[in-house]
Amino acid sequence: EQPCYILAIETSCDETAVAIVKDGHEVMSNLIASQIETHKAFGGVVPEVASRKHVENITLMLDEAVAASGITMSDLSAIAVTQGPGLVGALLVGVVAAKSLSVALAKPLIGTHHIAGHIYANRLVGEIHYPCMVLVVSGGHTELVYMKQEGQFEVIGRTRDDAVGEAYDKVARSLGFPYPGGPHVDKMALESEESIVLPRAWLEPGSYDFSFSGLKSAVLNVINQRKMRGDEMNPAAIARGFQESVVEVLVTKAIRAVKAYDVKQLLLCGGVAANRGLRAELSRQCDKEGIDLSIPPFDYCTDNAAMIGAAAYLKWREQYFTSLDMKADPQLSL
Ligand code: KG4
Ligand code: ZN
Repeated sequence: EQPCYILAIETSCDETAVAIVKDGHEVMSNLIASQIETHKAFGGVVPEVASRKHVENITLMLDEAVAASGITMSDLSAIAVTQGPGLVGALLVGVVAAKSLSVALAKPLIGTHHIAGHIYANRLVGEIHYPCMVLVVSGGHTELVYMKQEGQFEVIGRTRDDAVGEAYDKVARSLGFPYPGGPHVDKMALESEESIVLPRAWLEPGSYDFSFSGLKSAVLNVINQRKMRGDEMNPAAIARGFQESVVEVLVTKAIRAVKAYDVKQLLLCGGVAANRGLRAELSRQCDKEGIDLSIPPFDYCTDNAAMIGAAAYLKWREQYFTSLDMKADPQLSL
């Protein structure tokens, strides 16, 4: 059988990413041009700036990704791209590039959902056993997704306000860390010996939804109070208290969902899946409960194109292609 080589493009936010993935799991090249340095000055992602940066980067990165993979453009089986959700101008750059390549090379186009990409990042390191439960934690999403089988996504819980990554970034900012602050808070929390007690938002009994805005406000209140009173700030203890609250709620609800839906496996994914505190606590609890847990390696947690190639492969296998009049969709649902 002919191998399947998918060229995948991801430009939904502030990373321009291109990858070549063989047979859905073998990553032959995986390039990421981060715009973090550009956006740092603004304290967050500026959509218009992100789009322009994608335009600057994309052509060169396409060539480099192919060169690094050892195959040629004509060997490609399909062109995959993130169709949404994300910043519309940013998505558009990837979508236009993918369509152009698809036409020029006469290769099929495969539009991919960004979160499906995050989820199937787990296929880059192993098999997924269905039915499974997925805990999606990123800068834009916090969801518990029940998957009865491949390609079938049922969102059983979601955040009612901030995404968990967003809460990390805001808390980090108020503690004086640069964008994106998640990794800084994580590091500080793990190094801190002290911790302050912050609230946990459990919501109604039985709910799989999340809420992080109250916790975020609680952190801001502590910071402001300490400032006003001239008390010692101890940012590490605040970071640890925040992380403990977030991790406890995420882990508890994910494990409750695993039991209630009687699934074979729990998957973790999204940028915040790179959080060491979350990875450690979820692993510990899953070990204790005998739950099979899959977590992608760090590089496949935050935005990348290899995950888009992994997701697109499943459509390619079904010869399920996307028409050329496909549009970037900032609100695309799973
Ligand atoms: O999945 P992702 O790369 O982009 C979106 O699709 O949103 O997630 C980015 C988010 C950012 O909010 C970033 O602060 C967070 O993931 N993040 C972390 C860590 N690494 C990245 N949050 C907590 N701890 C980390 N180690
Ligand atoms: Zn993402």
